[in-house]
Amino acid sequence: MDNKFLLPKKAERIIVLQRIELASPLIKRLRKLFGRYIFSNFITKFFLDRKKISQNYYRAMSDEYFTIKDFIKNEDTFFLSIGSGIGGLEAIINDNLKDRSFYFIERDYISKKVKYGWGGMVNNEAYNDLELQMNFLKINNIDENQINIYDYDKDDLPEIKFDVVISLFSLDYHYDFNVYIDYLKKVSKPETKIIFDTIRADYFNKIFKNVKIISTNLNTVHKSNRIICSNFIN
Ligand SMILES: C[S@@+](CC[C@H](N)C(=O)[O-])C[C@H]1O[C@@H](n2cnc3c(N)ncnc32)[C@H](O)[C@@H]1O
Repeated sequence: MDNKFLLPKKAERIIVLQRIELASPLIKRLRKLFGRYIFSNFITKFFLDRKKISQNYYRAMSDEYFTIKDFIKNEDTFFLSIGSGIGGLEAIINDNLKDRSFYFIERDYISKKVKYGWGGMVNNEAYNDLELQMNFLKINNIDENQINIYDYDKDDLPEIKFDVVISLFSLDYHYDFNVYIDYLKKVSKPETKIIFDTIRADYFNKIFKNVKIISTNLNTVHKSNRIICSNFIN
Protein backbone atom coordinates (compact mmCIF):
# COMPACT_ATOMS: atom_id res chain seq x y z
CA MET A 1 0.00 0.00 0.00
CA ASP A 2 1.15 3.43 -0.91
CA ASN A 3 0.96 5.25 2.43
CA LYS A 4 -2.77 5.56 1.98
CA PHE A 5 -5.79 3.30 1.83
CA LEU A 6 -8.09 2.96 -1.13
CA LEU A 7 -11.47 4.21 0.02
CA PRO A 8 -14.83 3.05 -1.31
CA LYS A 9 -17.29 5.89 -2.02
CA LYS A 10 -18.54 7.55 1.17
CA ALA A 11 -16.06 5.73 3.41
CA GLU A 12 -14.45 9.00 4.48
CA ARG A 13 -17.59 9.90 6.39
CA ILE A 14 -17.65 6.85 8.62
CA ILE A 15 -13.88 6.99 9.11
CA VAL A 16 -14.20 10.52 10.51
CA LEU A 17 -17.15 9.52 12.68
CA GLN A 18 -15.09 6.61 14.05
CA ARG A 19 -11.94 8.71 14.48
CA ILE A 20 -12.78 12.38 14.99
CA GLU A 21 -9.09 13.24 15.37
CA LEU A 22 -8.66 12.58 11.62
CA ALA A 23 -10.86 15.52 10.68
CA SER A 24 -9.18 18.84 9.86
CA PRO A 25 -9.18 21.57 12.54
CA LEU A 26 -11.80 23.45 10.48
CA ILE A 27 -14.17 20.48 10.41
CA LYS A 28 -13.69 20.00 14.16
CA ARG A 29 -14.49 23.66 14.70
CA LEU A 30 -17.66 23.29 12.63
CA ARG A 31 -18.65 20.39 14.86
CA LYS A 32 -18.31 22.59 17.96
CA LEU A 33 -20.20 25.40 16.25
CA PHE A 34 -23.13 23.47 14.79
CA GLY A 35 -23.42 20.58 17.21
CA ARG A 36 -23.28 16.84 16.86
CA TYR A 37 -26.44 16.32 14.84
CA ILE A 38 -25.51 18.68 12.02
CA PHE A 39 -21.96 17.36 12.13
CA SER A 40 -22.96 13.69 11.81
CA ASN A 41 -25.68 14.17 9.21
CA PHE A 42 -24.56 17.07 7.09
CA ILE A 43 -20.99 18.29 7.51
CA THR A 44 -19.46 14.81 7.30
CA LYS A 45 -21.54 14.10 4.20
CA PHE A 46 -20.38 17.05 2.15
CA PHE A 47 -17.21 18.66 3.43
CA LEU A 48 -14.53 16.04 3.80
CA ASP A 49 -11.24 15.79 1.95
CA ARG A 50 -11.12 12.11 0.88
CA LYS A 51 -7.45 12.03 -0.03
CA LYS A 52 -6.32 13.63 3.19
CA ILE A 53 -8.54 11.38 5.28
CA SER A 54 -7.24 8.30 3.52
CA GLN A 55 -3.65 9.36 4.24
CA ASN A 56 -4.36 10.36 7.84
CA TYR A 57 -6.26 7.14 8.49
CA TYR A 58 -3.43 5.09 7.05
CA ARG A 59 -0.94 6.89 9.26
CA ALA A 60 -3.12 6.51 12.36
CA MET A 61 -3.61 2.78 11.76
CA SER A 62 0.09 2.26 11.08
CA ASP A 63 0.81 3.93 14.44
CA GLU A 64 -1.77 1.68 16.11
CA TYR A 65 -0.18 -1.37 14.53
CA PHE A 66 3.12 -0.28 15.99
CA THR A 67 1.63 -0.44 19.52
CA ILE A 68 0.57 -4.08 19.14
CA LYS A 69 2.92 -5.72 16.65
CA ASP A 70 5.43 -7.01 19.20
CA PHE A 71 2.68 -8.99 20.92
CA ILE A 72 1.50 -10.80 17.80
CA LYS A 73 3.29 -14.03 17.07
CA ASN A 74 3.76 -15.79 13.79
CA GLU A 75 1.60 -18.71 14.91
CA ASP A 76 -1.40 -16.42 15.67
CA THR A 77 -3.96 -17.22 12.99
CA PHE A 78 -7.46 -16.33 14.17
CA PHE A 79 -8.04 -12.65 14.83
CA LEU A 80 -11.24 -11.21 16.27
CA SER A 81 -11.87 -7.47 16.08
CA ILE A 82 -14.66 -6.00 18.17
CA GLY A 83 -15.68 -2.54 16.96
CA SER A 84 -12.91 -2.38 14.36
CA GLY A 85 -14.52 0.46 12.45
CA ILE A 86 -13.98 0.10 8.73
CA GLY A 87 -10.92 -2.11 9.32
CA GLY A 88 -7.75 -0.16 8.51
CA LEU A 89 -5.78 -1.80 11.30
CA GLU A 90 -6.66 -5.26 10.01
CA ALA A 91 -5.62 -4.24 6.47
CA ILE A 92 -2.24 -3.31 7.90
CA ILE A 93 -1.96 -6.51 9.93
CA ASN A 94 -2.73 -8.40 6.70
CA ASP A 95 0.03 -6.51 4.89
CA ASN A 96 2.52 -7.61 7.50
CA LEU A 97 1.36 -11.16 8.25
CA LYS A 98 -0.09 -13.15 5.39
CA ASP A 99 -2.99 -15.63 5.36
CA ARG A 100 -4.65 -14.89 8.70
CA SER A 101 -8.38 -15.20 9.29
CA PHE A 102 -10.12 -12.01 10.32
CA TYR A 103 -13.41 -12.04 12.21
CA PHE A 104 -15.22 -8.78 12.86
CA ILE A 105 -18.08 -8.00 15.22
CA GLU A 106 -19.46 -4.59 14.34
CA ARG A 107 -22.75 -2.76 13.90
CA ASP A 108 -24.52 -1.72 10.75
CA TYR A 109 -25.85 1.76 11.45
CA ILE A 110 -24.77 5.30 12.16
CA SER A 111 -26.04 7.02 15.28
CA LYS A 112 -27.84 10.28 14.65
CA LYS A 113 -25.68 12.13 17.13
CA VAL A 114 -22.28 10.58 17.42
CA LYS A 115 -21.02 10.89 20.95
CA TYR A 116 -17.46 10.08 21.87
CA GLY A 117 -17.00 8.75 25.29
CA TRP A 118 -17.94 6.30 27.94
CA GLY A 119 -21.52 5.05 27.97
CA GLY A 120 -21.14 2.38 30.68
CA MET A 121 -23.67 -0.41 30.18
CA VAL A 122 -25.42 1.74 27.57
CA ASN A 123 -24.41 0.13 24.34
CA ASN A 124 -26.22 1.80 21.48
CA GLU A 125 -23.71 4.02 19.70
CA ALA A 126 -22.54 2.88 16.29
CA TYR A 127 -20.92 4.31 13.22
CA ASN A 128 -20.33 1.65 10.66
CA ASP A 129 -21.69 0.26 7.43
CA LEU A 130 -20.89 -3.41 6.97
CA GLU A 131 -21.12 -3.40 3.18
CA LEU A 132 -18.68 -0.50 3.03
CA GLN A 133 -16.44 -2.33 5.47
CA MET A 134 -16.38 -5.47 3.29
CA ASN A 135 -15.51 -3.35 0.22
CA PHE A 136 -12.81 -1.48 2.09
CA LEU A 137 -11.15 -4.69 3.27
CA LYS A 138 -11.25 -6.26 -0.19
CA ILE A 139 -9.85 -3.28 -2.08
CA ASN A 140 -7.10 -2.99 0.51
CA ASN A 141 -5.86 -6.50 -0.25
CA ILE A 142 -7.61 -8.79 2.20
CA ASP A 143 -8.96 -11.78 0.35
CA GLU A 144 -12.70 -12.37 0.67
CA ASN A 145 -12.17 -15.82 2.16
CA GLN A 146 -10.14 -14.32 5.01
CA ILE A 147 -13.01 -11.99 5.99
CA ASN A 148 -15.89 -12.89 8.33
CA ILE A 149 -18.13 -9.99 9.35
CA TYR A 150 -20.81 -10.36 12.03
CA ASP A 151 -23.51 -7.84 12.81
CA TYR A 152 -23.63 -7.51 16.61
CA ASP A 153 -27.35 -6.71 16.53
CA LYS A 154 -28.47 -9.50 14.20
CA ASP A 155 -26.09 -12.42 13.89
CA ASP A 156 -25.12 -15.35 16.07
CA LEU A 157 -21.57 -14.51 17.02
CA PRO A 158 -18.71 -16.80 15.91
CA GLU A 159 -17.77 -19.50 18.39
CA ILE A 160 -14.22 -20.53 17.67
CA LYS A 161 -11.12 -20.09 19.80
CA PHE A 162 -9.31 -16.93 18.79
CA ASP A 163 -5.59 -16.27 19.12
CA VAL A 164 -5.89 -12.49 19.27
CA VAL A 165 -8.83 -10.23 20.14
CA ILE A 166 -8.46 -6.52 19.35
CA SER A 167 -10.83 -3.74 20.28
CA LEU A 168 -9.43 -0.23 19.92
CA PHE A 169 -11.52 2.57 21.47
CA SER A 170 -14.61 0.39 21.59
CA LEU A 171 -14.86 -2.32 24.27
CA ASP A 172 -14.53 -0.77 27.75
CA TYR A 173 -13.97 2.60 26.13
CA HIS A 174 -17.52 3.27 24.89
CA TYR A 175 -19.36 0.45 26.64
CA ASP A 176 -18.69 -1.78 29.59
CA PHE A 177 -16.41 -4.82 29.19
CA ASN A 178 -19.19 -6.86 30.82
CA VAL A 179 -21.23 -6.57 27.62
CA TYR A 180 -18.79 -9.09 26.11
CA ILE A 181 -17.31 -10.92 29.11
CA ASP A 182 -19.26 -14.20 28.79
CA TYR A 183 -18.75 -14.30 25.06
CA LEU A 184 -15.01 -13.68 25.39
CA LYS A 185 -14.68 -16.45 27.97
CA LYS A 186 -16.25 -18.82 25.44
CA VAL A 187 -14.00 -17.88 22.54
CA SER A 188 -10.66 -17.61 24.29
CA LYS A 189 -7.96 -20.04 25.35
CA PRO A 190 -5.77 -19.23 28.37
CA GLU A 191 -3.14 -17.79 26.03
CA THR A 192 -5.52 -15.72 23.85
CA LYS A 193 -4.33 -12.13 23.83
CA ILE A 194 -7.10 -9.60 24.39
CA ILE A 195 -6.09 -6.03 23.57
CA PHE A 196 -8.31 -3.01 24.29
CA ASP A 197 -8.38 0.60 25.55
CA THR A 198 -9.67 1.42 28.99
CA ILE A 199 -9.60 4.13 31.62
CA ARG A 200 -9.56 1.56 34.44
CA ALA A 201 -6.62 -0.74 33.75
CA ASP A 202 -6.32 -1.84 37.41
CA TYR A 203 -9.85 -3.23 37.44
CA PHE A 204 -8.77 -5.93 35.00
CA ASN A 205 -6.37 -7.47 37.52
CA LYS A 206 -9.53 -8.96 39.04
CA ILE A 207 -10.65 -10.41 35.71
CA PHE A 208 -7.45 -11.76 34.14
CA LYS A 209 -4.32 -13.47 35.46
CA ASN A 210 -2.16 -11.38 33.13
CA VAL A 211 -2.67 -7.67 32.48
CA LYS A 212 -0.08 -5.36 30.98
CA ILE A 213 -0.29 -1.72 29.89
CA ILE A 214 1.24 -1.47 26.44
CA SER A 215 0.57 2.19 25.64
CA THR A 216 -1.08 5.32 26.98
CA ASN A 217 -3.36 7.63 24.98
CA LEU A 218 -3.29 11.19 26.16
CA ASN A 219 -4.88 12.78 23.11
CA THR A 220 -8.25 11.08 23.19
CA VAL A 221 -11.47 12.19 24.89
CA HIS A 222 -10.50 10.14 27.95
CA LYS A 223 -6.95 9.52 29.05
CA SER A 224 -6.88 5.81 28.47
CA ASN A 225 -4.45 2.94 28.54
CA ARG A 226 -4.15 0.19 25.98
CA ILE A 227 -3.88 -3.13 27.80
CA ILE A 228 -3.10 -6.69 26.77
CA CYS A 229 -4.75 -9.33 28.91
CA SER A 230 -4.85 -13.11 28.96
CA ASN A 231 -6.16 -16.00 31.02
CA PHE A 232 -9.52 -15.27 32.67
CA ILE A 233 -9.41 -15.86 36.44
CA ASN A 234 -12.56 -18.00 36.36
C1 LIG B 1 -14.62 4.95 18.24
S1 LIG B 1 -14.98 3.72 17.03
C2 LIG B 1 -13.40 2.94 16.92
C3 LIG B 1 -13.18 2.25 15.61
C4 LIG B 1 -11.81 1.59 15.44
N1 LIG B 1 -11.58 0.55 16.42
C5 LIG B 1 -10.71 2.60 15.51
O1 LIG B 1 -9.92 2.53 16.46
O2 LIG B 1 -10.62 3.43 14.59
C6 LIG B 1 -15.97 2.50 17.92
C7 LIG B 1 -16.54 1.42 17.03
O3 LIG B 1 -17.26 0.48 17.85
C8 LIG B 1 -18.43 0.07 17.15
N2 LIG B 1 -19.37 -0.50 18.13
C9 LIG B 1 -20.25 0.14 18.95
N3 LIG B 1 -20.90 -0.74 19.75
C10 LIG B 1 -20.41 -1.97 19.43
C11 LIG B 1 -20.66 -3.29 19.92
N4 LIG B 1 -21.54 -3.54 20.89
N5 LIG B 1 -19.98 -4.32 19.37
C12 LIG B 1 -19.08 -4.11 18.38
N6 LIG B 1 -18.79 -2.88 17.88
C13 LIG B 1 -19.43 -1.82 18.41
C14 LIG B 1 -18.89 1.33 16.42
O4 LIG B 1 -19.75 1.06 15.33
C15 LIG B 1 -17.53 1.92 15.99
O5 LIG B 1 -17.14 1.49 14.70
